[in-house]
Amino acid sequence: MQTPSTRYTRPAVLLHWLMALGLIAALVAGTYIAGLPMGLQRLKMINWHKWLGVSLLALALLRLVWRAGHRPPADLPMPRWQALSAHAVHGLLYALMLLVPLLGWAYSNAAGFPVVWFGVLPLPDFVGKNPELAELLKPAHRLAAWSLAALILAHVAAALKHHFLDRDGLLSRMTLKG
Ligand code: HEM
Repeated sequence: MQTPSTRYTRPAVLLHWLMALGLIAALVAGTYIAGLPMGLQRLKMINWHKWLGVSLLALALLRLVWRAGHRPPADLPMPRWQALSAHAVHGLLYALMLLVPLLGWAYSNAAGFPVVWFGVLPLPDFVGKNPELAELLKPAHRLAAWSLAALILAHVAAALKHHFLDRDGLLSRMTLKG
């Protein structure tokens, strides 16, 4: 463990923004797929969505490992309820960054489709083909994804409030400058 500094480490900043972009892309792609008719375009998009989702799962694991060894900076002065809610949201974001792709992966397996990462690396099935289970996992993946989207919105709104209303420099702790 290192002494907490006043800002996030460079790898933490890079992982934060890379995952922010990736998660938004996965949410947009998933929503787009849900409205597509059956066909080649839909199958292609589902594959890209799966590959992106599995990559985000790997990045989330890497991020958790990094965080375990590098303490985030101490809280800025703010009301206790705000600090507690921020910690709760961060914890839930980590939980959903793992749960959403795992549910998508399990859904794919239960529906009878193995996941082959970028078409080259076959990943293990962790549930067997099971159409009844797939019927449950599909809405579970959707609900978890939308909960993640709602939390991301709350997280962004809070960051913007700190930046524009409180002007306390919170956002600059998550940048590469300095
Ligand atoms: C953090 C990563 C992920 C996010 C944010 C995400 C989000 C979404 C969203 C929003 C949908 C549309 C749900 C709906 O409105 O019906 C969706 C659909 C889907 N996701 Fe994901 N997903 C992720 C990872 C994965 C992974 C890793 C897989 C599989 C390996 C996967 C497989 C699927 C499939 C197959 C669908 C299409 C369901 C259908 O309409 O048939 N997802 N995803």
